[in-house]
Amino acid sequence: MATVLKDHLVSDATRRFLDRAGNLWINGEWCAARSEKTFEVYNPATGEIIARCAAGDRADIDAAVHAARYAFESGSWSRMTASERGRLIWKLGDLLEEHGDEFAELETLDNGKPFNVARAADVPLAIDLFRYMAGWATKIHGQTFPISVPYMPGSEFFSYTAREPIGVAGQIIPWNFPLLMAAWKLGPALAAGCTVVLKPAEQTPLSALRLGELIEEAGFPEGVVNIVTGLGETAGAALAAHPDVDKIAFTGSTEVGRLIVEAAGKSNLKKVTLELGGKSPNIVLADADLSAAIPGAAGAIFFNHGQCCCAGSRLYVQKSIYDEVVEGVAHYARQIRVGSGFDAAAQMGPLVSQEQLDRVCGYIEAGIRDGARLVAGGRRKGERGYFVEPTVFAGARQSMKIVREEIFGPVVAAMPFDDPEEVLSLANDSAYGLAAAVWTRDVTQAHRLARRLKAGNVWINCYNIFDAALPFGGYKESGWGREMGLAAVELYTEIKAVTTRLA
Ligand code: NAI
Ligand code: MG
Repeated sequence: MATVLKDHLVSDATRRFLDRAGNLWINGEWCAARSEKTFEVYNPATGEIIARCAAGDRADIDAAVHAARYAFESGSWSRMTASERGRLIWKLGDLLEEHGDEFAELETLDNGKPFNVARAADVPLAIDLFRYMAGWATKIHGQTFPISVPYMPGSEFFSYTAREPIGVAGQIIPWNFPLLMAAWKLGPALAAGCTVVLKPAEQTPLSALRLGELIEEAGFPEGVVNIVTGLGETAGAALAAHPDVDKIAFTGSTEVGRLIVEAAGKSNLKKVTLELGGKSPNIVLADADLSAAIPGAAGAIFFNHGQCCCAGSRLYVQKSIYDEVVEGVAHYARQIRVGSGFDAAAQMGPLVSQEQLDRVCGYIEAGIRDGARLVAGGRRKGERGYFVEPTVFAGARQSMKIVREEIFGPVVAAMPFDDPEEVLSLANDSAYGLAAAVWTRDVTQAHRLARRLKAGNVWINCYNIFDAALPFGGYKESGWGREMGLAAVELYTEIKAVTTRLA
């Protein structure tokens, strides 16, 4: 594959990978798309092409599903001992750790995020996820039940449940945390004993392909994991509609989430889990420690350039401290160093694509048009690459587009409130329910609000705290089911109830 890396010094290992990257991985073989079509992968900091990847479509998805089915039914994976399965998943974590720098480089090249951020967050979180899930492989079990069967007096039974792997899992992931999203999806599926067809986002397929090489190196049997790069409307849609896929797990836009549900309904009613958009409220009460709340509110929206489904994009501040907090967050925004992710001083890189740049700039224009007051940022930065300034709007109103819709960029809308009761109704007035945060020194108030916020994740005096052990996911239109934790593992299992008559 031709690679263009004029501006960046990447390691030889990454250069060599880019030279060989671009194939699909099906049944343990690296191969071109059956159609021989490819698509281009761009460096968002420069707009240059860094790789050409195979544009898999229906025929390739079909072959990958077939391989995953064979690997599942033949028992090479599902009947491997739980301990051996766990050992392989752990080994994958070790290999990832060994190649951590390469993965951070790939994320920076492909997604644009600063190398230091990918190295400190994305990569260690992915390693930890595999290690955590390796532990579950040996701890997935059923229960026994004292059943009564009232219509058969005098009889005796022994009943138990088993948790079995659901089968072939189709997994469609987005571009905001390419490696980490692959880990969140693969980890629980593999721990449960499922086999997988993974479709990475077309914007950022590289780290998943490199991960495929490590899966091969770790010694997973062929066909257990298959990776089909390609476009959403072709490869993704074919996977969601495939009649031999038992479960589809999707992370991305709410719009595509609805299409996934429809495709599942029209094909074989495969199980569906969805991790979709958000418009998460971040609430600062008057008694909060502002030395933590102000940088916390800035981090909540600007981390990963706002390209987080749980970004704290609605900032509600109690009236008496509103001006101070808004100015404090705006001050942070103005100081953030935006630049190439390979620049060691850069705190924020480019958005992932021209499409996302246009989308985010469109929302900024809508905010201005609707009468919100721009207090920091508000413009594209430079002419090359997809950079945008960290942006703070004050005086936003609940009805505005920038308050109701997911922007998925570094744009926060601040609004004042009078009392906790009022902010609860404002915070819950959203179609989404992924995350929420409360900043206060009042423990009782914090937990009162946490109890009534309609969100799958509530942070108190912190934001963006993730751990492999903690379930992550959304209420309302933010999704179905959870990622990470035991909750995610269970969603890759079926429960079988078995009853024996003893007397
Ligand atoms: P998207 O939902 O189109 O893409 C996510 C994944 O779905 C990609 O792998 C894509 O190839 C696949 N996909 C697209 N169309 C599909 C289809 N018809 N059938 C099956 N798979 C399909 O998201 P996009 O267009 O990249 O971003 C649009 C907006 O979505 C963003 O501005 C953001 O608001 C939201 N988003 C949310 C994410 C999250 O973490 N919840 C991640 C990415 C985007
Ligand atoms: Mg899309």
